[in-house]
Amino acid sequence: MSAPDYVLGYSEHEQKRLLKQAALLRGWTERFFRAGGLAPGMRVLDLGCGMGDVSLLVADLVGPKGSVLGVDRDAQALARAHERAIKQGCADYVKFEQIHLEELKSGELFDAAVGRYVLLYQADPAATLRHVASLVKPGGRLIFHELDFGQVVPPWPEAPLWMRTYTIMSEAFRRGGNPPDFGRRLSRTFLDAGLPWPTIQAEIPVGGEPDSYVFGWIADTVRSLLPRIEHFGLATAAELEVETLAARMEREAVSLGAQLIGPTQFGAWAVKP
Ligand SMILES: C[S@@+](CC[C@H](N)C(=O)[O-])C[C@H]1O[C@@H](n2cnc3c(N)ncnc32)[C@H](O)[C@@H]1O
Repeated sequence: MSAPDYVLGYSEHEQKRLLKQAALLRGWTERFFRAGGLAPGMRVLDLGCGMGDVSLLVADLVGPKGSVLGVDRDAQALARAHERAIKQGCADYVKFEQIHLEELKSGELFDAAVGRYVLLYQADPAATLRHVASLVKPGGRLIFHELDFGQVVPPWPEAPLWMRTYTIMSEAFRRGGNPPDFGRRLSRTFLDAGLPWPTIQAEIPVGGEPDSYVFGWIADTVRSLLPRIEHFGLATAAELEVETLAARMEREAVSLGAQLIGPTQFGAWAVKP
């Protein structure tokens, strides 16, 4: 793969995790995109589209009179994205292209550029955003869904396994240079990119009850992060026991009656001057 240091890697497990995660995130992303101004007929660029979940959501919002270009450096994910667009019946107006974001060139300008969980992975997110803004028409929209899991919010009552797991996940990102608190850097990033102060909204996932999605979400993410977690000496695979991690976090939270707070979801958008 062209980006061997990508924190979550490109394993089959990670592909499955992204699909599950996309189902969890869809409602929030849709709300941010609608509030940010996506509308039927728009021509939209989706940055770091992966397996196309955001591109397919945008396809629903812009409809067949609009169009979507999803870009990513991961060819395998793009092949899946294309297959899914065919299945969803929108492949004639949803296209995918393998490219590094920094190499994107301006041809016909877009009505909007969007991305989910992508700016936090960039070496210089403001420079990437500035570049992307140059591909959007004046009056066009820049809309991003990012997250903040920089610190664990202690549950009440405290749930030690949840707190330790969450802290390790956060630290694995931080040590690798991907800020886990990127969601709270969105205003500064938009301003540094030469854009107006963005409108920002947030949603907080809450769980802890039996079968809560938060257990599998965090355990699956930790599993994708294992090579990075071990590399930084944060924990060993034997200590983490990822196969049983979700079940053990669930047993802990349910027995305590603990209310768990997940990563804050941020939607940020601005109009290009
Ligand atoms: C966490 S995934 C999110 C995928 C998708 N946006 C979603 O929410 O389902 C991040 C994606 O961004 C891509 N990516 C990150 N930085 C990139 C860059 N500089 N150029 C191209 N793709 C990039 C990765 O390959 C990966 O597919």
